[in-house]
Amino acid sequence: MTLYDKLGGEQGVRQLVDSFYYIMETDPLAVRIRNLHPADLSGSREKLFFYLSGWLGGPELYIQKYGHPRLRARHLPFSIGELERDEWMRCMIQALHALPVEPVVRRQLGNAFYQIADLMRNKQDGLPDYQFKD
Ligand code: HEM
Repeated sequence: MTLYDKLGGEQGVRQLVDSFYYIMETDPLAVRIRNLHPADLSGSREKLFFYLSGWLGGPELYIQKYGHPRLRARHLPFSIGELERDEWMRCMIQALHALPVEPVVRRQLGNAFYQIADLMRNKQDGLPDYQFKD
């Protein structure tokens, strides 16, 4: 059984993506990554749904529509460090908790998401800006 099946197939993945973006829009602690995204999230929502469908072991919808995901390269235009990764994970973990999945599956998914979210980091985390001011 794939993670896609364990999550409840297409309906489960859609629900996960919908709650992920709902949380991103409403949680003040995700404002940093919210602001990286376009005002209208419908395209982002569709792409994440397509991508996760294949990534979780279901139909390869993203590849069928857009070709190879090159996910890291596609994130290079956005500055992603530990804070952004953690905001993304914060939304995803809350979204996973909104779904009726077994705790063991939730943990498995949480770990897998963390690995890939960490791979998206593309900036060196350093001292906050104020440390450099006179
Ligand atoms: C680590 C923190 C992350 C940040 C800050 C971030 C941010 C973004 C932003 C700003 C976009 C552009 C939105 C758009 O084109 O509508 C995007 C696109 C996308 N992200 Fe992320 N992302 C992160 C992690 C991830 C992860 C872990 C995944 C997959 C599990 C993912 C999957 C995608 C997909 C599939 C797209 C659409 C790519 C395209 O076709 O242009 N992202 N992301």
